[in-house]
Amino acid sequence: MNGGGNLVTDDVEKAEILNAFFASVFTDKVSSHTAVLGNTVWGEAELMQKSPPSLISLAGGAPNPNTFPFKMATITTGDGTAVNIGEDLMKRALQYSASAGIPELLSWLKDLQKSLHNPPTANYSPDQGQMEICVTTGSQEGLSKVFEMLINPGDNILLDAPTYPGTLAALRPLGCNIINVPSDQYGIIPKALKEILSRWSPEDVRKHNNIPKFLYTIPNGGNPTGTSLTTDRKKEIYQLARQYNFLVIEDDPYYFLQFDKPWAPTFLSMDVDGRVIRTDSFSKILSSGVVEFYRVQRDAMLAAADKWLKGLADWHAPAAGMFLWIKIKGVSDTQQLIMEKALQKEVLLVPGGAFNIDSSVPSSYVRASFSLSSPAQMDQAFQRLAELIKEAV
Ligand SMILES: Cc1ncc(COP(=O)(O)O)c(C=O)c1O
Repeated sequence: MNGGGNLVTDDVEKAEILNAFFASVFTDKVSSHTAVLGNTVWGEAELMQKSPPSLISLAGGAPNPNTFPFKMATITTGDGTAVNIGEDLMKRALQYSASAGIPELLSWLKDLQKSLHNPPTANYSPDQGQMEICVTTGSQEGLSKVFEMLINPGDNILLDAPTYPGTLAALRPLGCNIINVPSDQYGIIPKALKEILSRWSPEDVRKHNNIPKFLYTIPNGGNPTGTSLTTDRKKEIYQLARQYNFLVIEDDPYYFLQFDKPWAPTFLSMDVDGRVIRTDSFSKILSSGVVEFYRVQRDAMLAAADKWLKGLADWHAPAAGMFLWIKIKGVSDTQQLIMEKALQKEVLLVPGGAFNIDSSVPSSYVRASFSLSSPAQMDQAFQRLAELIKEAV
């Protein structure tokens, strides 16, 4: 068109070029995924990029960046490094962008996923179901979007409770039928999942006869249980997902908080069908050396538990995450113990019932978090908890 770099000045020519642009955008771009995910349905950004500088656009609906209140920013990291955000970048940051995220960030995230998980679907063509990424304000927002997208009232879904209350809160209003899959210290028990799924016949699967739509699970350092699924169990669960044709939602915010190498392969790394939706989170790990910090914290909590709670409670050492899940012996429901008596003794934990599908169902567990307290505070807290348990039983 103007490969030599000459500007097109003639109005007629301009109109022709514009028409050509619109034609190309409407025909081959609107149908493409990128254009639909772009800042407008008809791909205005692409159009502007291809256009000569003399093009005057009255089409854009974006705010004028010259009116943005923030011009520049400098962020200082923990080690004193200054990261500068100049005027151009600030305008970009505050301007509309593609719904799935700023393209450079998406491409960086895609490379990260490839280097961590090598997902088979990353190399598929878009028609075959190539892996897609969407940036959200955290795992919680991603989960809410996914649940709203997938669930219709009455749908069956599978999860291993006790589980993250944020997930239960997002699921409850959607009117789905939550089926609890039994689990132990290594997460979901595949045999138990198989048993649940045996209510549906191959015929049901073929006709989509209310087969569970998805299985939701927290594969590493589960909240509240601290449990991590083994590789073998993941493989078995993925095979069941293929057999019964359901999706796997892998909510993995504690992936980077695994204390021992090698890290277990993720569901995403096994996903030959494109049936895994993975939610990641940076909210727990925005600094270096974080795993080592949490490992030391975990060990301090285990030492405090050994010192004060032996004989009064049971627990398993978590291999990832931020939580110790403690079963109090001789107490059938920890709700009253924690919400009334523990407060008087100035120690606070979360009663286990908060993580049940029906939070009124009694639980003899409590969740203790080792992310915020110092080792000395953990020690004192468990001393107080031990006194409390002795008084209660
Ligand atoms: C299992 C689980 N999923 C999701 C979240 C929410 O993560 P984010 O802070 O990225 O929204 C949490 C946070 O506590 C969590 O424990």
